[in-house]
Amino acid sequence: MVTLAIASQKGGVGKTTVSVNLAYAMARRGWHTLLLDSDPQGSVGLSLSRKAQERFGFYDAVYSNHDVERLVQPTRLPELKILTSGQNLSFFEGSGSPEQEAGKVADVFGNLERRGFDLIVADTPAGMAGFTGHILKCSDFVVVPQQAEPLGARSIPYVLTALRHLRDSGHQVKLAGILLTMMQQGSEACEAVVSELRDLLPAEFLFRDMVPRDVDFLEASARGVPLGLLRDIAPSGALIFDKLAAELETRVKLRTEDHGYDRKTHTPLMD
Ligand SMILES: Nc1ncnc2c1ncn2[C@@H]1O[C@H](COP(=O)(O)OP(=O)(O)OP(=O)(O)O)[C@@H](O)[C@H]1O
Ligand SMILES: [Mg+2]
Repeated sequence: MVTLAIASQKGGVGKTTVSVNLAYAMARRGWHTLLLDSDPQGSVGLSLSRKAQERFGFYDAVYSNHDVERLVQPTRLPELKILTSGQNLSFFEGSGSPEQEAGKVADVFGNLERRGFDLIVADTPAGMAGFTGHILKCSDFVVVPQQAEPLGARSIPYVLTALRHLRDSGHQVKLAGILLTMMQQGSEACEAVVSELRDLLPAEFLFRDMVPRDVDFLEASARGVPLGLLRDIAPSGALIFDKLAAELETRVKLRTEDHGYDRKTHTPLMD
């Protein structure tokens, strides 16, 4: 099983959008996936279900010892399950020391590990500290969504330093990749950010594909669906998530390059 956190220092960069659409794309590709919402605002739940706020979820398991097994909810896609952030207000009241909270989060992830998922995709609150930090400590990989805008890229060194600190202190979390989001084709400012990042970072740090800026994403979250379910024929943004999911499989080692579909290994139609 692979635990993947979706995290960034900055807010509003597309973490929740990426979490929902990537988890859906991975489930569509056959992986038994749990989409876990650890944002106390409950963004994942709210974007997918109007009843989410009434349900117990992640923070109820963390603070009130609710049995996490019973909090995981099915969706209409059998391979995709959801753990909403829940009702527990202890998050806002700050009812534990950071060490206690980290221990409880580790217990919840330990329980989830025994449920036979192939993949947990955890949406996190903005920032690398607090609960995001606790979740990163339990994660194998992290995807860092990064808005393709001039000042946005400044937080990348901070994120990379935070990951190095976690690894230096014995945690295994690795960068699965930085994913550029809200990319506006034809915008010189966006293109400049992309080429600056390509110059600055090792090539493997960046996902090959980027998430375009598209009003369909706003409409999809307003309607409570992943983009792939917005219309009878999926909008093009959803196809990008299929490609990102395929790339993610290799990056997080769910599928090795040898079994992938790259040109060296694909099966020819005829000999
Ligand atoms: N590619 C996109 N194109 C257009 N709008 C987008 C795109 N991605 C996200 N949005 C919109 O931008 C807003 C912020 O996105 P989202 O909630 O996914 O960010 P976030 O990083 O989870 O924010 P927060 O830090 O508050 O949790 C939302 O209204 C969302 O619908
Ligand atoms: Mg969010």
